[in-house]
Formats: sequence, structure tokens, C-alpha cells
Amino acid sequence: MFTTPNIVILTGAGISAESGIKTFRDNDGLWENHHIEDVATPQGFDANPSLVYRFYNQRRKQLLDSSVKPNPAHIALAQLQTAMPGHVTVVTQNVDDLHEQAGSKNVIHMHGTLRSARCLQCATVTYWEGDFDSGTECPCCHTTSLRPDIVWFGEMPMHMDEIEAALLDADIFIAIGTSGNVYPAAGFVQYARDAGAVTIEANLVPSTTHSLFDRRITGPASQTIPTLVSQILTDCEGLT
Ligand code: OAD
Repeated sequence: MFTTPNIVILTGAGISAESGIKTFRDNDGLWENHHIEDVATPQGFDANPSLVYRFYNQRRKQLLDSSVKPNPAHIALAQLQTAMPGHVTVVTQNVDDLHEQAGSKNVIHMHGTLRSARCLQCATVTYWEGDFDSGTECPCCHTTSLRPDIVWFGEMPMHMDEIEAALLDADIFIAIGTSGNVYPAAGFVQYARDAGAVTIEANLVPSTTHSLFDRRITGPASQTIPTLVSQILTDCEGLT
């Protein structure tokens, strides 16, 4: 008897590129004109906190820009989740909220999110829409110890237990728009393979881990993902 497959989808910066958010590695080591070590490491934050607050405030503001909106790839994944309730886990390395804007639920943000602030004093994570900096009070403990809720280089990614459990249960693993340079995310394909999943990569160019995938789809995510999702839904039609 056939059962509905469990699908784990890992997304990277490439899925949001066509929504107007720059990727990390297509810009000569610069992220929005800043050296990554200046704005995405604990050392960078210690050395120049004002720069780091300003940088993430700008990134958060960018999400409100009317030109930055989910593209057909985000929308297709949300439709897949709706069509296969409880069977599709979206794990993203992205700190934007375009999956949520497209309608995806329970998105696992393993590298944190622009939409929250974390208190270094009481560890409370608070949903955040505007700016904050070293003078902003934590709504919970009222100290001024907020930092961007982003996983910087050298820090532990979030929700790893939940992700590993989903990968262990996966029948299909799909990596979309990620270069395969940053671990542990780059190792998920091997983990999923070992658990018996069929593995699919969708990218503009082959990633550094492309040889580990059973199937590779080349092209812009806004075009390839809606097609892939309709193939999956057709294949799953009638399965219960
Ligand atoms: P990268 O910038 O390393 O890679 C983006 C990938 O997307 C590349 O392989 C591109 O070929 C691909 N790409 C670009 N445009 C695309 C499109 N329209 N359709 C499909 N693919 C496209 O971004 P990530 O792999 O997400 O971590 O980077 C991983 C992590 O490194 C980030 O989460 C961040 C960064 O440093 C932290 O901040 C901790």
C-alpha cells in the first residue's frame, strides 16, 4: 500500500534572489556591500555593534519594500504544504519571511530571522517589525541587551533536533537555491540519503554537493519549482 511521502525542503538565498534579495556568494564575498565578517560574526558585533544593528535594521526594512514579495517558487511550496498537510517540512537558511508571506506554515529558520530580536539577558525572543539597537529595551526583562536573532558564523544553527528528526523521516529531500558551502545545512543531503530519501537539487548552477543528489534541476527557482511541485502532486494523486 502506498502512503503519502514525507518531504523535507531546504531553501537558501537563491529562492529569494528573484524577489529582490541578494544572495551571499554571488557578490565577491560582500553581503549588501559589507564584508560578511563585519556584519555576520560575533566578533563583528563586538567590534562595531552600531554597524551591525544598522545593517540588520536595513535588511528588516527591506522586507517592507513593496517590490520584495514572494515569487512563484515560494508560492508553489506553500501550495505543496497545503495540499499535503503534515507531510511537508520547510527548512530555510534565509532570514527573510518570504515563505511565511507566501503562506507556508511552521517554517524552520535554522539561521534565525530578521523578524525577531533576542535578549542576551533573559533569552526571550520577541517578534520585531521596526528598528532596534543597543538602547532598546527588551519587552520582557526591560534591560537593553537585544541583539539580532540571526545565527552568525561560528554560532550553532537553531532547531537542529527538529530538522534531524524530519530528515530521518524524509522520503524526498529537495534543496533549492543553496550553494552547499555552509554546514550543517550542506550535510543534510547526505543525512537524508542515509535515511533512504530520494534527493533533488534545484539551482541555477550545480552546487558544491551536487553529486550527492539523485536528480538535478537547473534554472531559476521561480520557473523550476512550480513545475516540480505540480509533478510531485501528480505523482502523489490517489495515494493515501
Ligand atoms: P549562497 O549565496 O551561498 O548561494 C545561493 C545559491 O543560489 C547559489 O548556488 C546560486 O547558484 C543559487 N541561485 C541564485 N539565484 C537563483 C535562482 N533564481 N534560482 C535558483 N537558484 C539560484 O546562499 P546560501 O547557500 O543560502 O548563513 O548560503 C548559506 C548561508 O551562508 C546563509 O544562510 C548565510 C550565509 O553566510 C548565515 O548567515 C549563518
